[in-house]
Order: sequence, then structure tokens, then C-alpha cells
Amino acid sequence: MVMRADIGVIGGSGFYSLLDDAEEIDVVTPYGPPSDTITIGHIGSRAVAFVPRHGRDHRFPPHRIPYRANLWALRSLGVRQVLAPSAVGSLRLEYGPGTLVIPDQLVDRTSGRAQTYYDASGAVHVPFADPYCPNGRALALAKAESGGWNTADGGTLVVIEGPRFSTRAESRWFTSNGWSIVGMTGYPEAVLARELALCYTTLALVTDHDAGVDTGEGVTQDEVFAFFAANSERMRALVGAVAADLPTDRTCPCGTALDGIDLPFTLP
Ligand code: ADE
Repeated sequence: MVMRADIGVIGGSGFYSLLDDAEEIDVVTPYGPPSDTITIGHIGSRAVAFVPRHGRDHRFPPHRIPYRANLWALRSLGVRQVLAPSAVGSLRLEYGPGTLVIPDQLVDRTSGRAQTYYDASGAVHVPFADPYCPNGRALALAKAESGGWNTADGGTLVVIEGPRFSTRAESRWFTSNGWSIVGMTGYPEAVLARELALCYTTLALVTDHDAGVDTGEGVTQDEVFAFFAANSERMRALVGAVAADLPTDRTCPCGTALDGIDLPFTLP
């Protein structure tokens, strides 16, 4: 059987039960295997492929996730629209745990991660001024609002290298720059999606106040994992609602991001 999907979800292993009629497929890519076997199934009428970002057993820390293989594998299965739920820390007092942020900007503070497909031959400079799909963002926001979430429309996600959390000074500096939330996995995922002309939408669930937004104790791994697990059912429902209603034709700029650029290879 040929297994294809048009929507990809990259998320925690709590998302396995998102799909109906699910089947698993091992995908081989030029960048090695993805984080795990990919599950393909349905949400309503849409075929959806799910990759557990950290692997089924959470074996990949954020800086070791095979980001290039994950996005390549999804595109090779037919995926053109990616939804990326993730846990983040808040850099603002007003965004408490449970706030659902749909960021519109990103700052890369990672280092040493493989962040491009175009590092072998020729110059390929993709436009990345607006890293997220505008249509995906608008729909995610509408679904979150109608689902009763506390939402934040827009904001800057700063992606740190991890796996450690930020110091108080780093966190204070991020806040003073006007950045809203901090995570460890949003980059290079977003740019690799753009390099493959995919739509990419982050749904960021605030799990903590990072280093304290000055007064708190500072985040712990237990706090993040427990909060995300407690909200995974709700997040699953939200991602499912967005996937079911994503428009099939892409009127956003994401699909034409590479037009006019001489690519060194054919996209999968
Ligand atoms: N993921 C969830 N909370 C985080 C934080 N405070 N910093 C980085 N990544 C996170």
C-alpha cells in the first residue's frame, strides 16, 4: 500500500492517539532515519503523518533531534503543511502556564545544529523574514479561541540550545529584548520546513515561567513534563481541530518560497 499524507504533525508521544486508522511506516532519508517510525492515519478527511519529535521513548534531547530527517521524511510522504505543538517557558508575567501562544517571530540562539539542506553545492538563501505560515497561524488561533484557550496572537519565540534551562540573566535579557517565550526545539525545525517549501505553524503551550520572570524559583524538568502531560489531551484535541480544517489549497507564500532559486537537487 502506498502511504501518503498531506499534513504533518511533529509533537510529543502523547499525540499517537490523534489519528484514526493509523499505520506505521519506516522512512529512509539522505539524512538518516527520522526520530522514529512515522504513523499515518486520518483526521476527518485529511491524511496526517505523525513524527514523535523526541522519539517514542523520548531518547533524543532537543539538541540531538534529527530535524533534517524528520522534515525530509514528511515531505517525501507528500506532506506540505506541518503543525508543531511544543512546550515553552514564558518570558512575560501575563503569560502564565496554560497560555497557548501562536508565535509570529523567532530568534535562533542554538549553536552547532545541522540547520540547512543547502550546505553542499551552490548558494541557496531562502526568505525567512516571516518564519511561520500566516494561514496556519490564523486557523490555529481561531481554533484555540473557540476551544476556550487563553491565547496570545503573535510573539517571539527564542530557541535556546539546551539541554539546560536558561540562567536568570539570560532569561531577563530575553525579556528585555521584547521576546515572549523560550523553547528548545523550534529551530532549526522552522527553517528546514521553509527550505522544503512547507507551511509550518507552531502551537506553543506555556508550561512555566522560565527562570522566574524575576521572582519565581526557576523552572525544572519535572514541572515542564508534568504540565505538558496534564494538558496533552487538550492539546491533541486542538491540533486535531486545526488539522481537520486546514485549507487544502495553499494561498500563503510558503509553497512558493523557493520559486526562482536554482536548487542543487529535486525536492522529495
Ligand atoms: N520548554 C518548556 N519550558 C522551557 C523553558 N523554560 N526553557 C526552554 N525550553 C522550555
